[in-house]
Amino acid sequence: MKEQLNALRERALAELADLEQPKELEEFRVRLLGKKGEVTALLRGMGALPAEDRPAMGQLINQLRNELENALDAKEQEITSRLKEQRLLAERLDVTLPGKAADEGGLHPLNIVLADLIDIFQSMGFDVVDGPEVETEHYCFEALNVPKDHPARDMQDTFYLAENLLLRTQTSAAQIRTMEQRKPPIRMICPGRVFRADEVDATHSPVFHQVEGLVVDKGITMCDLKGVLEQFAHEIYGSDTKVRFRPSFFPFTEPSVEVDVSCSACGGKGCRVCKGNGWIEILGAGMVHPRVLAGCGIDPEVYSGFAFGIGLDRLTTTRYKISDIRLLFENDKRFLDQF
Ligand code: PHE
Repeated sequence: MKEQLNALRERALAELADLEQPKELEEFRVRLLGKKGEVTALLRGMGALPAEDRPAMGQLINQLRNELENALDAKEQEITSRLKEQRLLAERLDVTLPGKAADEGGLHPLNIVLADLIDIFQSMGFDVVDGPEVETEHYCFEALNVPKDHPARDMQDTFYLAENLLLRTQTSAAQIRTMEQRKPPIRMICPGRVFRADEVDATHSPVFHQVEGLVVDKGITMCDLKGVLEQFAHEIYGSDTKVRFRPSFFPFTEPSVEVDVSCSACGGKGCRVCKGNGWIEILGAGMVHPRVLAGCGIDPEVYSGFAFGIGLDRLTTTRYKISDIRLLFENDKRFLDQF
């Protein structure tokens, strides 16, 4: 039996030396030291020995068991630390490598110009309101003194969604909503998208942007209109920019004007940007028509006001010398990255 023991010891230790995985160790442990393991079987087999040999033999077997347990533990430690080392090596990070810069987002040129514009008007005491893009004929036309048979309401200009429901063709609809909700003094701007059934080309898009403005108070005159809009144009284009007011017509203002600024690209000499005439039209404006005020419950005998509608796309293309309005809507990253 002693020989059997020694043979088992030798075989087991040799086998153990070759093991590499924790799983193999566990299997080894079960096979030798487990309940049905070989060493346990030896202990059980002691019953067949003469009684006087049993204590010595038992001691030897227990010694073997301890020996194997210790060897197993040592091996286990060796394997664990080797695996850990391998893992650390595999996960090794070189913190001195240069980082990969994240792609930075940026503001759309329309939003850059709009932010400037909001700054300018807020500093003059205007607040910013919002209005719906889907409007009724009342807010987009009727209340603005645009009669039923006016050509602007033609299906060719206006996107109708249903009878009496349309995509607003002008932010002026927000004037009416504001005057219905507030009492004078009113000083607001309303930026937003507007929609017209235009063919797409370098200067036209079925979606574009306006910034509406409205001032209503006692004693507001054309002088206020001129002062505010001149100030605005100088802040956007620079103080040596010339500003020109041309008589015009809008159904909801009387008198009405269109405002041009001297071309920022050529200084007024005439170039491609201004189509050769030295001026760029940037907005329409006028004194709010008394009928519009009265329709909103504001007494035109007591109050007066002015309104304006700025073409934000035009402001943006002229500021950045963008030759085609379509670039503002295509969202080509190579274009947007330039701002
Ligand atoms: N709504 C007009 C347009 O779209 C512009 C405008 C606004 C004119 C306010 C006068 C007053 O052309």
